[in-house]
Amino acid sequence: MLMFAYLAATIGLVQGLKFMGEPARAKLGNLVAAVSVLVALVALVLATGWASLANLVLLLVLLGIGTVIGQIWSNRVAMTAMPQLVSIFNGLGGACAVVLGLNQVFGQGDLAGDKLAGTVLLLTNIFGAVAFTGSMVAYMKLDGRKLPRPSQSQKIAARVLLALTLAALAYYLVAPVDMGAFPQLMLAVSIVALLYGIYFALPIGGADMPVVISLLNAMSGVATLFAGLVFHDPVMIIGGILVGATGVILTLQMCVAMNRSLSGVLAGTFKGSGAAQADAEQELRSITAVETASLLAFSKQVAIVPGYGMAVAQAQRECFALQEMLRQQGVDLHFIIHPVAGRMPGHMNVLLAEANIPYASVKEMSEVNNTMEHYDTVLVIGANDVVNPAAENDPDSPIHGMPIIRAYKAKQVIVLKRSTAKGYSGAVNTLFDRQNCKVLFGDAKGSLEEVINELKRI
Ligand code: TAP
Repeated sequence: MLMFAYLAATIGLVQGLKFMGEPARAKLGNLVAAVSVLVALVALVLATGWASLANLVLLLVLLGIGTVIGQIWSNRVAMTAMPQLVSIFNGLGGACAVVLGLNQVFGQGDLAGDKLAGTVLLLTNIFGAVAFTGSMVAYMKLDGRKLPRPSQSQKIAARVLLALTLAALAYYLVAPVDMGAFPQLMLAVSIVALLYGIYFALPIGGADMPVVISLLNAMSGVATLFAGLVFHDPVMIIGGILVGATGVILTLQMCVAMNRSLSGVLAGTFKGSGAAQADAEQELRSITAVETASLLAFSKQVAIVPGYGMAVAQAQRECFALQEMLRQQGVDLHFIIHPVAGRMPGHMNVLLAEANIPYASVKEMSEVNNTMEHYDTVLVIGANDVVNPAAENDPDSPIHGMPIIRAYKAKQVIVLKRSTAKGYSGAVNTLFDRQNCKVLFGDAKGSLEEVINELKRI
């Protein structure tokens, strides 16, 4: 019965993950995965004879509290703060692994009599601790909280802490350890790993955050996998493998998207924020909504490049309305998505899917980058770093080397933004220096509404 329930839960997790890959069924995927975990939990409680009524009551109460907090939290969170919420959830997964590991040795008196079990316990806490504190730092960075600036001393501290963690693990493996001292070793390693998580994430430059977020996600999966081995729990093991493997794939994809090596990111080879350069004032040529509407009306091929500002403005439905309007006038409109646009992997895809934008009109950057000159007009809606040509031709730019959407190659580029502010990396955007680039100032949603109203009049 237990194995049957575990098998059903495993199939549910895999199927849920599959659904999550399709925008239309992503919500269903989430539900299927959540129900699968619940099935596994209930089956475990039933199979272990409920251990005690008190345990069952405690479990149900905790499940209830968690569900209520999760529901309130996700209802209240602004769409723009979603990446931060995801980071917190990720970190909590790591924290759970640490608590489970410590409870096993301190609470259950598991002194890890055999080296293999002890190593798995130590690894559970190392990965869990790094995922926890690293995700908390990532959360603060995404939330724009004040943190110490990246520095060389943080990188040195990170390396020392990593060396200490690995040395403790190696010592445990080779030296005849007094098993009575194992809980203290676990505690010490957990504390050092918690500190390492902080110093690992602190020096990583803003532009490299997509890689770090995906890596921390993979780490929380690996921590769950090790915790599953400790508890001989197949669903935890399989869930951990799924999260760990997808996290690693995402990390590698993010490295390709940023043109960065994983070792470079991990070593914190951050570039300066180009502060001196970033202070230079730039002249931005402005355009009105009326002029934008007439440009669009006379275009044959139009593209929208969405970015973080579209999420801030919640302008995805206006994008859909504009697409519909232009389609009726015989204008073809594509959406071009950069893999790191926004603040979390897939951020733009989720928003566009929410607005029912047909998937066929959504293009990957690599699909269209070599033919960008075919577009008569490109509307850059709240994107900045992902269209910055400095990434291609300014070796001093903090984003130099990152592949960009070559919006500058289009006949005309119109950037929708509110001010002269820079993008997330703080780099000067040399797109604004191009003759074919103009700025439609204002909140993206309001600007699009104005453009749509003008188009109705044309
Ligand atoms: P950004 O470079 O952050 O630029 C966003 C732009 O949106 C800014 O120019 C801002 O200018 C504008 N904006 C903000 N609110 C707006 C509103 N209400 N209406 C109109 N415009 C608005 O965005 P991007 O091009 O999407 O690049 C993403 C950056 O975030 C990259 O550097 C990437 O490395 C980093 N990052 C990504 C991730 C993931 S996983 N995707 C995670 C962490 C960091 P104004 O303020 O002047 O309006």
